Amino acid sequence: MTRHFLADDDLTADEQSQILDLAAQMKQDRHRFTPLAGPRSVALLFDKPSTRTRVSFAVGVSELGGYPLVLDSGTSQLGRGETIEDTTRVLDRQCAAIVWRTFGQDRLEAMASVSAVPVVNALTDLFHPCQILADLLTIRERFGTTRGRTLTYLGDAANNMANSYLVGGALAGLNVRVAGPKNALPDDRVVERARRLATDNEITITDDPEAAAGADILATDTWVSMGQETASSAERLATLAPYRIDAAAVQRARDTAIVLHCLPAYRGNEISADVLDGPRSAVWDQAENRLHAQKALLTWLVEQHE
Ligand code: CP
Ligand code: NVA
Repeated sequence: MTRHFLADDDLTADEQSQILDLAAQMKQDRHRFTPLAGPRSVALLFDKPSTRTRVSFAVGVSELGGYPLVLDSGTSQLGRGETIEDTTRVLDRQCAAIVWRTFGQDRLEAMASVSAVPVVNALTDLFHPCQILADLLTIRERFGTTRGRTLTYLGDAANNMANSYLVGGALAGLNVRVAGPKNALPDDRVVERARRLATDNEITITDDPEAAAGADILATDTWVSMGQETASSAERLATLAPYRIDAAAVQRARDTAIVLHCLPAYRGNEISADVLDGPRSAVWDQAENRLHAQKALLTWLVEQHE
């Protein structure tokens, strides 16, 4: 059966861990693994802007011996109304996998329902699971393990990153605390999904920025996600201000705490410049780890498919 990666919990905890092990190996020996030699092609489709995801998948597919076929919706027939299903049936006969950044999760599910090759979520409105694999790899590098560590996400807690921290973090054994204003908290269905995946780890949702206290990892993301530009009113941004990761928030966390941000960052909004550019910030390792984590993910998915 073709395996897809549409949401963080499309992997079991063991599978997630195996992929992170492989990612660490691939990082050590970057050009040793060439499962896409041929070259086999991977379609990389973008309905929204991207820097990190586009670069890391294109570089990653090349390093795996494959060919990255990058398509923007604006320059393909999908953007002119060709159906998802018709597009998928053309791509899956020529490509080893399809990676797609789009809006609704239902669009990705529609693709996966007809695709004969693995489909990967490169960000939807609901989840950003490839980012969380990179974040988990970064946490492993800094702390040796994810299990039992506490990650506090502060900010827009109703977005794709908060959702993926909940579900992917729960799977990895992190205690996940998500804090944001009452009008920007995660959907109950996502929280329940995370709680079902958690074992001895805790999942906490709160509007109290004190959730930063004692955290090993502080994480945040933009206050205005792609496609939600109407959410950038001064009034809404003011409600988010108490959840900014600044020096005071870092002070509340553990002495050894690191700070994550998937980027792009808006200094002075969700994170202060001194923190993003300071010694606790792990964001450049985190951004590089997109490459290694996604190479491992693609390798694993393609091997499952063979
Ligand atoms: N973090 C992330 O996905 O960045 P891009 O939007 O630049 O791909
Ligand atoms: N929540 C952000 C993540 C960007 C990588 C967005 O969807 O725009």
